[in-house]
Amino acid sequence: MLVNIDNLSKQFKEKRAVSNLSFTIREGSCIALLGPNGAGKTTTLQMLARLLTPDSGAIQFKGYAEKDYRPLIGFLPQHPSFFNWMTGKEFLFFAGKLSSIPKKQLQARVQETLRFVSLEEAMNKKIGGFSGGMKQRLGLAQALLHKPKLLILDEPVSALDPKGRRDFLHLIEELKQDMTVLFSTHILHDAEQICDEVLILQDGCLKWKGSLPALRKEFDLLPIKVQTEEPMNGIIEQLEIIEDYEYIDAKTVKVRLPEYVHHNEFLQALINRNLSVTHFEIMQDSLEDAYMKVVRQ
Ligand SMILES: Nc1ncnc2c1ncn2[C@@H]1O[C@H](COP(=O)(O)OP(=O)(O)O)[C@@H](O)[C@H]1O
Ligand SMILES: [Mg+2]
Repeated sequence: MLVNIDNLSKQFKEKRAVSNLSFTIREGSCIALLGPNGAGKTTTLQMLARLLTPDSGAIQFKGYAEKDYRPLIGFLPQHPSFFNWMTGKEFLFFAGKLSSIPKKQLQARVQETLRFVSLEEAMNKKIGGFSGGMKQRLGLAQALLHKPKLLILDEPVSALDPKGRRDFLHLIEELKQDMTVLFSTHILHDAEQICDEVLILQDGCLKWKGSLPALRKEFDLLPIKVQTEEPMNGIIEQLEIIEDYEYIDAKTVKVRLPEYVHHNEFLQALINRNLSVTHFEIMQDSLEDAYMKVVRQ
């Protein structure tokens, strides 16, 4: 365990943005904080980054007695702001000085980080001329410069175009080998691509936490959809390898198999019973259904 978050709450006037939120962050994990707009993600991450003071609750880094744990975290805000008149390199030197990186190390660290986020060529250009994707990568560089233990990213890809999004997710994937990552998103697909665990927030409360496979399982999803030329009535009912099923019509059925049964085995069983399979799909959006179930609860 790297961080223990215990009973955090935050109220803005009459709005309770975060309510009694508790969870732990395992060292080396990549966690997605999921939830619709207004769920309390930014408020939570800002409290973790010590930009907001919780009304109650505690945040404790394991083995770190200092109250101010900011040297251990890197933070990329949802709407980072830059000085447009600075160059990318100047900005990183400025950020490095703010986080008290020793002068001797700073030059090498800035170069190394610029290389990592692919901004080496643009480092002497003014930030005012950067694209959205470049600005976001510069923001990431700023968060990484002091080699934090925990990297916190607030909606890091929401404002990016598809290519920028893919590039940025790829960077997070590389980073998660070296550090613990917590990032928020309102898009399940982003979480699915890179994280091990999800925390689902709704109206400031933690609605669900666990792994993605556990989320699928808990919400009882039927991820395989099959269509055949002939009606399947009477056949599906007799297949012992099926855990659960639901007919959409006589020739279309959704099923779930136990973990130890490969989907090819199911397909083979249909063929063996002389059914002509016209469609066989492992539905990727089934997780989206689970997410919607959690959020609607
Ligand atoms: N500074 C603030 N003053 C008043 N209300 C706020 C403030 N910041 C956030 N809120 C409210 O708290 C709730 C949670 O906001 P936020 O944490 O930004 O959610 P998310 O990041 O999940 O979209 C929202 O209803 C929002 O309007
Ligand atoms: Mg937010």
